[in-house]
Amino acid sequence: MAVERTLSIIKPDATEKNLTGKINAKFEEAGLRIVAQKRLHLTKAQAGKFYEVHKERGFYDELCEFMSRSPVVAQVLEGEGAVAKNREVMGATNPAEADEGTIRKLFADSIGENSVHGSDSAENAAIEIAYFFAGTEIVG
Ligand code: CMP
Repeated sequence: MAVERTLSIIKPDATEKNLTGKINAKFEEAGLRIVAQKRLHLTKAQAGKFYEVHKERGFYDELCEFMSRSPVVAQVLEGEGAVAKNREVMGATNPAEADEGTIRKLFADSIGENSVHGSDSAENAAIEIAYFFAGTEIVG
């Protein structure tokens, strides 16, 4: 399997609970390397731009409010099959449906406040990584 990169975001519910280190440990235990990382407080407009594909969904405004409520940690994870591996480590979008031991099962409160975001394809990963990071900030 090819070495890939994927975009991860540790969301406000998780940074509020001081869970950045515990979540990073889950990525590293799964063989994903954190090759870029920055903590930032998104504006509602920045969150809205990132999640533009969900613009027509009923939860869009709530999602943008939530993502700009507190700091997030944007990250690039690297490893073999990183997109799929990260989705496995995160667990299902709805924590109630997530497998035991996954980040969302362990730490998330609800489908809206689900602790982490991960790119859903290699193609989207490239777009999402470029939203947060310059090439020079990614050190593999
Ligand atoms: P994420 O993987 O970041 O991608 C889009 C996000 O929208 C998703 O995680 C959830 O946080 C959020 N989301 C998806 N479905 C719902 C929903 N039914 N209600 C509220 N938020 C949702």
